[in-house]
Amino acid sequence: MSLPSAPRINPSILSADFVNMQADLERIASADFVHVDVMDNHFVPNLTFGTQMVERIQATSPVPLDVHLMISDADRWAPGYAELGAASVTFHLEAAARPVELARRLREIGSRAGVAIKPDTAGDSLYEIMDEFDQILVMTVEPGFGGQGFLSSTMPKLRALVEEARRRNSTVWFQVDGGISLDTIAQAAEAGADTFVAGSAVFGAENIEAAIHGLRERARAASLES
Ligand code: DX5
Ligand code: ZN
Repeated sequence: MSLPSAPRINPSILSADFVNMQADLERIASADFVHVDVMDNHFVPNLTFGTQMVERIQATSPVPLDVHLMISDADRWAPGYAELGAASVTFHLEAAARPVELARRLREIGSRAGVAIKPDTAGDSLYEIMDEFDQILVMTVEPGFGGQGFLSSTMPKLRALVEEARRRNSTVWFQVDGGISLDTIAQAAEAGADTFVAGSAVFGAENIEAAIHGLRERARAASLES
């Protein structure tokens, strides 16, 4: 499978209409991936859906799935999402007992392995193990809800991780998630993010295709400048 090039825009269906999911998936056909937020009301104080729903999204979506697991005991549950064909499965470092073993398992099944860190989690715990991952997700809000404000306090951590990856000649992708909009995406792109999750900025827009295009162009301009 050929992978979309940066900057990648991954709309989050947390802001989609849950009873019109098929129609909303069709509206983001020009995106790079669809970002699928799985929440268990335990790791985060919110609940979405599990494998049954994600399997239907996988069967319906015009673009590949980027699954973001905000669930406890990722070691146990994450492989199931790779098995149903998700292009990438990202679990939280805070929720995995054996992150390296889990990443290897996800890759073995055939999906890209991703690791996410919450705003207060240090990035340096990932330096030694970044080769085990295909993507690193730096959360730019506290995970759990869409529509929150972008935390620019997370940018130094992102920058340091990107620099470390360059030192190691790593090809890992850097994703940001939370509060990404036309006003904030440039900051994240300048810090080195190449993959941008946006929920409310995409599904809240009158013209979804134009919103995706606008975000991508703004990220492209900012990463060329930096
Ligand atoms: C939040 C989720 C996000 C959320 C982003 O915990 O992980 O993917 O949908 O929503 P916006 O873009 O509205 O902040
Ligand atoms: Zn997410």
